[in-house]
Amino acid sequence: MSEIKKTLLSSAAQESIDRWMKRYPADQKRSAVLEALRIVQEENGGWLTVELMDAVAEFLEMAPIAVYEIVSFYSMYNVKPVGRYVLNVCTNISCMLSDSERIVDHIKKRLEIGINETTADGRFTLREVECLAACAAAPAMQVGKKYYEHLTPDKVDAILEELE
Ligand code: FES
Repeated sequence: MSEIKKTLLSSAAQESIDRWMKRYPADQKRSAVLEALRIVQEENGGWLTVELMDAVAEFLEMAPIAVYEIVSFYSMYNVKPVGRYVLNVCTNISCMLSDSERIVDHIKKRLEIGINETTADGRFTLREVECLAACAAAPAMQVGKKYYEHLTPDKVDAILEELE
């Protein structure tokens, strides 16, 4: 790895990625790419720059384009700065039928932001996402590692207050 790119990944991140790489055969380092991107994103305040994606690609001996494709495919990666809490509201079919639009509209009004926007205080980013695999508990929202289900505007208010 070149010195310039290497310095973009902290030694802690490199060690964590190394540990993930060891779970796979030596010629399949790229299998650790999802975890590598998660580690680097978390360390960078919740989003990935092109330079960081390039550094991950080089570290895992992958083509940068392959890393960009992965980042653009999964909604858990961000390529722009985001708020401390990213509100991922599912608007796929089950949630849509359970009135997820009302949930999205409520959040927009309460936080005075649109989809993919962040509150002025940097606290919340609102996003619409595809199925969160919580269809039986629609409408659903994911914030970090936590799922919130059977949402109503009142429940959303309580969640936002808890996160504030
Ligand atoms: S459609 Fe929303 S969780 Fe599946």
